[in-house]
Amino acid sequence: MSGEEIDVAHLTEAQARAELARLAQVLTEADAAYHTHDAPVMSDAAYDALKARNAAIEARFPALKRPDSPSGRVGAPPADGFAKLRHKVRMLSLANAFEDREIIEFDARIRRYLGLPETAPLVYTAEPKIDGLSLSLRYEAGRLVQAATRGDGEVGENVTANARTIADIPERLDGAPEVLEIRGEVYMSHADFEVLNARQAARGEKSFANPRNAAAGSLRQLDPAVTAERPLRFFAYGWGEVSAPLADTQMGAIARLAALGFPTNPLTTLCDGPDALLAQYREIEQARATLGYDIDGVVYKVNDLALQARLGFRATTPRWAIAHKFPAELAWTRLEAIDIQVGRTGALSPVARLRPVTVGGVVVRSATLHNEDYIAGRSATGEPIREGRDIRVGDWVQVYRAGDVIPKVADVDLGRRPADAVPFVFPDKCPECGSDAVREPGDSVRRCVGGLICPAQAVERLRHFVSRPAFDIEGLGAKQIEAFYRDGWIREPADIFTLEARFGEGLQQLRNREGWGDKSAKNLFEAIDQKRTIPFARLLCALGIRHVGEQASSLIARHYGTWEAFVAAMDAARDPNSPEWKDLLAIDGVGEVMATSLVRTMTEPHERASIERLTAHLTILPAERADTARSPIAGKTLVFTGTLERMTRAEAKTRAEALGAKVAGSVSARTDLVIAGPGAGSKAKKAAELGIEVIDEDAWLALIGAP
Ligand code: IVH
Repeated sequence: MSGEEIDVAHLTEAQARAELARLAQVLTEADAAYHTHDAPVMSDAAYDALKARNAAIEARFPALKRPDSPSGRVGAPPADGFAKLRHKVRMLSLANAFEDREIIEFDARIRRYLGLPETAPLVYTAEPKIDGLSLSLRYEAGRLVQAATRGDGEVGENVTANARTIADIPERLDGAPEVLEIRGEVYMSHADFEVLNARQAARGEKSFANPRNAAAGSLRQLDPAVTAERPLRFFAYGWGEVSAPLADTQMGAIARLAALGFPTNPLTTLCDGPDALLAQYREIEQARATLGYDIDGVVYKVNDLALQARLGFRATTPRWAIAHKFPAELAWTRLEAIDIQVGRTGALSPVARLRPVTVGGVVVRSATLHNEDYIAGRSATGEPIREGRDIRVGDWVQVYRAGDVIPKVADVDLGRRPADAVPFVFPDKCPECGSDAVREPGDSVRRCVGGLICPAQAVERLRHFVSRPAFDIEGLGAKQIEAFYRDGWIREPADIFTLEARFGEGLQQLRNREGWGDKSAKNLFEAIDQKRTIPFARLLCALGIRHVGEQASSLIARHYGTWEAFVAAMDAARDPNSPEWKDLLAIDGVGEVMATSLVRTMTEPHERASIERLTAHLTILPAERADTARSPIAGKTLVFTGTLERMTRAEAKTRAEALGAKVAGSVSARTDLVIAGPGAGSKAKKAAELGIEVIDEDAWLALIGAP
């Protein structure tokens, strides 16, 4: 038994006071070690025991409770309060479909990719899409050792102590592979949600908007004791790293998970094609109201795991699965005003300010109106939308939301239009800086041309720069950035890293600012210093280049490896005939629009100068190149010719690129390897002339380790 568990009943008042002081100090240090430095100094159990002891002493001597008591620290978790964990196998999301037609296309796309004729059997699973939050559970030698949220898919939060409090999650498994990562959804039932909200109200605490928020809030509690009080449940639907295959099929693997003791969804069925999938969708939609928990669609997955492996992934979603979502939820309300927001790329976005209305359990106060054409009732190509009805301030509008997306205004009720309502005039000047707001031909969006002189753009770019997927600088949030910008202390990202030097006595100045003390100023400089070393992908994402988000940044970083290689390639790629331009376009997930935006921004003189001022202060960590560490074809240029019999060209190209190779259309002196199937003609001949190695499809499959 630990020394912390001794009975507190025998403590004198003086002893209790001293003990509370000691516990406050030990727990504060433990919190800092765990949350701020990601380096716990004690086990979760030891921490819990200390907290329990503190609570027990406070219960016996309420008058001695300290103002800095650790027991007061329970509650909403600061978002970065958990240690970070890198997923061994990425946690992906699913592509969405809303229409039956998209499911028929999904099946057709898969058949095309695999080269399967329409008549060949292709079996899928269909199962409810649980509206909760995903969790990855790692078991080693049959023991639960780690639980992590999805996070950005690559790095999640360590919520192990909390996951252990969920009754549906087994602590030990019998007969499991040595390493087994289970993926599934944490959710809350309707009945438990009602009880929880009633209890929260009775305690004067905040109630939750819906079961999903309640589940997320409960799982992400810093104090596992609070999570333990919350009735969370779990369905297993997938896996990450496994040391031995679970089965040959999705259905078989799910049966295996059930046999190991995980709850799996009883509505999971096999379907032999799109018709059967759609029939099952209707069944599940019918059952939705009586399930007792929220679902927001049906997930279809290719049943054969060997086919899943061949189909693989796009940037963020598997090719072998899709989520068929239920129709969005709708509500009518009054449009009180239309605000124009200026984004970091200068886009003027109209936002509907609404009379608050509940849509699918969530109170909605604002919604996107997309762009000026949308408000006017026409599409980008001039076709009428909503039969040409425009949207005016004062109108009654239909609002809808599907899943987590920003609510949208869908329709307008002309019968309730006030007599004095006037058409909305979209501004042609930036409301923030007064610069012209222009619309390029072919662009649906009007943009402020002010660039960095536009405070809204500059601030948005800086806010993005310090945001979580980017530099994530603790103590430098949106509010601080705005204040620093306003006072001229930070005008561009590089300024963040000279803040301390420029204000040598800056500490003094910062200290004089409202809301800053010695400690917070020192902490800020430390937090900035910590980020002087930054991974390539984060830096790229932080630059906020149009069309280049978090996922694309990591794809690009993995492709080029180092920042220097990337910059050199962007310079060369200005020439559309260069191999560098083609190489950029060949990255799976990078299209022409993104590539153009990247090259343009990286080579635009002002942008480039600003980026160089920034990188002068940074050490940029190279990215791990995708899957290519042991790849025999990394960095090689391949040409496929003739007919491939075991995979389609599309699949072969994707596989080759995933292993770090480039795929070219024609044979040249740069080609390293030609894969020739039956019917190969001039290309194979040319390869032979140039002395380039030519292999057949079997040798290709052996080379990439395909079964
Ligand atoms: S499979 C590789 N199956 O939906 C993709 N996901 O929108 C693995 N979800 O992040 C996901 N129910 O959190 C899968 N039956 C189900 C699901 C499910 C809910 C969630 C999951 C995922 C999100 C994608």
